Amino acid sequence: MSTRRALVTGGAGFLGSHLCDALLGEGYRVLAADNLLTGRLENVAHLRNDSRFEFTEKDVCHPADWGEVDYVFHFASPASPVDYAKHGIATLRVGSYGTFEALETARRCGAKFMMASTSECYGDPLVHPQPESYWGHVNPVGPRSVYDEAKRFSEAVTMAYRRYHNLDTRIVRIFNTYGPRMQVHDGRVIPNFMWQALRGEALTVYGDGSQTRSFCYVSDEVDGILRLAKSDEHEPVNVGNPSEFTILECARKVIAVTGSRSQIKFETLPPDDPKQRRPDISRARRVLGWEPKVDLESGLVLSLEYFRNAVPIQEISS
Ligand SMILES: NC(=O)c1ccc[n+]([C@@H]2O[C@H](COP(=O)([O-])OP(=O)(O)OC[C@H]3O[C@@H](n4cnc5c(N)ncnc54)[C@H](O)[C@@H]3O)[C@@H](O)[C@H]2O)c1
Repeated sequence: MSTRRALVTGGAGFLGSHLCDALLGEGYRVLAADNLLTGRLENVAHLRNDSRFEFTEKDVCHPADWGEVDYVFHFASPASPVDYAKHGIATLRVGSYGTFEALETARRCGAKFMMASTSECYGDPLVHPQPESYWGHVNPVGPRSVYDEAKRFSEAVTMAYRRYHNLDTRIVRIFNTYGPRMQVHDGRVIPNFMWQALRGEALTVYGDGSQTRSFCYVSDEVDGILRLAKSDEHEPVNVGNPSEFTILECARKVIAVTGSRSQIKFETLPPDDPKQRRPDISRARRVLGWEPKVDLESGLVLSLEYFRNAVPIQEISS
């Protein structure tokens, strides 16, 4: 059995659970720690009989003895706008106390550390696409600040542990990622559209739908994360798909892939909703040799079966 052991905080979440799979595939033993605030045990149910996998239900904001680990992946945090609006304080706590605790674990064990950061660090950016050198355009007191500032703070603490404690750290700035195991009600664009299209409801587009997003399929994202984990890059690295779509185009693609007869309805744009988001992935290409492979249409097709099972089929209108 492998002696390498990884701690994945947020391991029962969407991305964390895919990361657990990938780390087991790399020969790690994996301990997933999650308080199930926004994650689900079903996401790791398939690993129940794998002796190399352990799950523990814990809030990672509190000190804990996880035993010896070689790598800490700090992925715990509400991530969807619906979740962090609902759990604002918990989001700030896991991005501050939780990050300190995860870093302290890595320091105690002499382990490597990776922090899951986000494109939200750039706020509503004034530079397009966003390179890592852009410092962002962030509202520190708006409704999204509980997430954006928690992540910016987490990045700052991570860099401080590197500078002051010589910890071997990495920061991945994840851009919109989608795929199986996402919660259908988490308010993110693709689950929202899938849910509505599969139920035959009108797809809700905020504003006129001209705001753009880029969507990365989960297998590409996890590939980028693993490459970063193995690299010696300590500066933040954007990992996301640079193909940009308007929200309206995305809605139409979901309708086409699901074969739904849903219409599109328009609602008022929420405050601080970024108008454009697209990663500059030059650094990931250069230092990781990484490039996303799955285009939006293929990713939607790959996700369809999961969403079909997750959405009550009987409610699909004929
Ligand atoms: N999915 C994306 O598109 C995306 C984009 C940018 C950044 N990220 C980052 O990636 C990470 C994972 O996101 P996700 O999409 O899988 O979200 P998710 O909500 O599915 O997963 C987050 C997990 O963290 C757990 N968690 C939250 N607070 C905790 C605490 N105090 N203690 C223990 N567990 C806790 C939740 O229960 C959940 O299982 C997050 O840090 C998020 O900020 C994700």
